[in-house]
Amino acid sequence: MEQLVQTEMWKARSLEELVRILHRLFAEDKVSVEEVQALMESYESNPDEWLQYAQFDQYRYTRNLVDNGNGKFNLMILCWGEGHGSSIHDHTDSHCFMKILQGNLKETLFEWPEKKGNGEMTKKSERVLRENQCAYINDSIGLHRVENISHTETAVSLHLYSPPFDSCNTFDQRTGHKHKVKMTFYSQFGERTHCATAMPQENN
Ligand SMILES: [Fe+2]
Repeated sequence: MEQLVQTEMWKARSLEELVRILHRLFAEDKVSVEEVQALMESYESNPDEWLQYAQFDQYRYTRNLVDNGNGKFNLMILCWGEGHGSSIHDHTDSHCFMKILQGNLKETLFEWPEKKGNGEMTKKSERVLRENQCAYINDSIGLHRVENISHTETAVSLHLYSPPFDSCNTFDQRTGHKHKVKMTFYSQFGERTHCATAMPQENN
């Protein structure tokens, strides 16, 4: 994972402008976490701009690709039905930014399980992320679980991963045991993805 420096303030007035500025920032050798986080937070969520990407599934949350960042990052919209949540997972040594576009998401942070340990994972903190907030995590911060704890409201979030990755580890909260999972997109650029095989469990 690259170390990040230099900070400049940007304001994204639309999703399109956000994508344009992200391309510019990630074209540089060094990218500042604070800068990207502030930029993503500066975008005031407008459903008219992202509704085309927001495809929900009845049973689980979905990952919908918005932009592939010229190979430098993946920008995607995750749609969370009532009560939908992720497993505890890592981020494959990438940067992960998560901005709330609609509703609220609960983020629970966990410590990495001990190498030879075999027991309940240690919870570090939890918080509720609200509309337009942008959180950041990487593997050195820890692991997390993300959940829409509402049973009456859906939630939508915008995620940026850099560098892009398509598999990560999920962890069993009771034992700390991990297993690798491959992730797929429910839709790409607004078009439903057709998978020949059954959908694996989604995480991140
Ligand atoms: Fe995550």
